[in-house]
Amino acid sequence: MKLKFTLSVLSLLLTIPASTLSLANTGAEAVAQTKPDANKGEAIYTKGIADKNIPACLSCHGANGNSGGGANPKLAGQHSAYIFKQLQDFKNKQDRSSPIMSPYAANMTEQQMKDVGAYLAKQTIKIGSAKTVQGIELGQKIYRGGIASKGVPACAACHGPTGAGIPAQFARIGGQWSDYTKAQLMAFKNENRKNGPMMATIAARMSDKEIEAVSDYIAGLK
Ligand code: HEC
Ligand code: HEC
Repeated sequence: MKLKFTLSVLSLLLTIPASTLSLANTGAEAVAQTKPDANKGEAIYTKGIADKNIPACLSCHGANGNSGGGANPKLAGQHSAYIFKQLQDFKNKQDRSSPIMSPYAANMTEQQMKDVGAYLAKQTIKIGSAKTVQGIELGQKIYRGGIASKGVPACAACHGPTGAGIPAQFARIGGQWSDYTKAQLMAFKNENRKNGPMMATIAARMSDKEIEAVSDYIAGLK
């Protein structure tokens, strides 16, 4: 079962967009492009992009990427390639759309997305804490060991023991607001968010109670 799962994960990884792969493979091309500029990214983050009508990201995502509540995700310390992918997905709207983020992303250039990603990757996330016994016990169990009887793999296998993720595909999730984590897991489960086929499979196998417990645990994970 484990091996079978690993193999299906590998085959999914092989379907990662060709654009990402070609960038990694052709060093010359990558150099020819303008390198991501974290200072420009900071200006976008703190001031917005006036001529495109995009407000400061800071107004919702908080100073240095640490938002004030679970309606808006923390972005501090997120991998730049993950930020870039999510903004691309919001722009394309097919696999992940948001009435708030999609219009902003639609007006950003690829360079601006990379600049803001470079800035956010350098920030430090403020870790919260688990609030329920369920989160501390069941949540930790799921995070570290999965749910064998349902074929749910350990979250730690892809997101790392501390939730720091693995660049570039596996998001940092440790310390995120539990409300946001729960909302994303429910969206994967309900197929409202379709940009992570592995996550859709995993979330579909989890009960709402299990999703709640692991989301609570992740809020305090570091
Ligand atoms: C008006 C509030 C608001 C503003 C301004 C805003 N965002 Fe967001 N952002 C959100 C919300 C809400 C979500 C969650 C959307 C969802 O549930 O799918 C989000 C999600 C994201 C995500 C996905 C994070 C993840 O963990 O998957 C990224 C990346 C992001 N925003 C980047 C930005 C950037 C860059 C800017 C500035 C150019 C910005 N946002 C401005 C509200 C905002
Ligand atoms: C096989 C690898 C794998 C495993 C195991 C895994 N994930 Fe994920 N997860 C991913 C990938 C890949 C993404 C990014 C999807 C995308 O590109 O949008 C992701 C994204 C997420 C996100 C969205 C983060 C954000 O900022 O929007 C959450 C939340 C999440 N995973 C939680 C979990 C939990 C909880 C578990 C354990 C029950 C888990 N994951 C197990 C691969 C995995």
